[in-house]
Amino acid sequence: MPGKISPSIMCADFRNLENAIKKLKEAKVEYLHFDIMDGHFVPNFTLGPDILKSIREITNIPFDIHLMVQNAENYLELFDIRPGDIVSVHVESTKHLQRLLQKIKQLEAKVAVALNPATSIYMIEDVLEDLNIVLVMTVNPGFAGQKLVPATLKKIVRLDKYLQEKGFGHIEIEVDGNVSYENAKKMRTAGADIFVGGTSSIFIKGKSIVENIKKLRACIV
Ligand code: DX5
Ligand code: ZN
Repeated sequence: MPGKISPSIMCADFRNLENAIKKLKEAKVEYLHFDIMDGHFVPNFTLGPDILKSIREITNIPFDIHLMVQNAENYLELFDIRPGDIVSVHVESTKHLQRLLQKIKQLEAKVAVALNPATSIYMIEDVLEDLNIVLVMTVNPGFAGQKLVPATLKKIVRLDKYLQEKGFGHIEIEVDGNVSYENAKKMRTAGADIFVGGTSSIFIKGKSIVENIKKLRACIV
């Protein structure tokens, strides 16, 4: 199964978002990645529920909602989560992770836990039964345009091996941050399945989104 692409909408040209979504549809991306930030869990603000609502009106592509927020359990209903969406929450951002994952599952979305670069893969040991996806942050969350944290490549390898050994090989690995063409190849070799493309590949200024996605797909077969 080739790698799947989830373009990071925070990196799109907001002066013409509808056109960007049209191009992403043309390129048949598997998801649309929405980075939601609250200024507490990460020192930045980005997209809010209203942008997701307007984009819902122009596409059926499943949403990949990345909640970089403290206590996401308080905000789930704001995001009109639908069956087939991915919802990822940070293991570092809530006291009651398993209860939160159950809530996401009840909404029939794919359940994902996100790990910051410094967070051990073993933090998910007791929620493996609840997971469809593990989101490995390959940069420190909060900003586009950062450089890969090198140690995260080995982390992907260890996580892939760990999931296989535990009998959870069906859990997909998503990678998010500086997914350049070069890094995407290394991440794919390491075991990644879903790739969040931002300013490092899909949204390179002045280049065609459709062409960029073709190039990225060639790196993750
Ligand atoms: C980081 C964001 C990502 C990503 C953006 O917090 O979650 O969407 O870094 O893409 P790049 O890293 O390619 O600019
Ligand atoms: Zn993200």
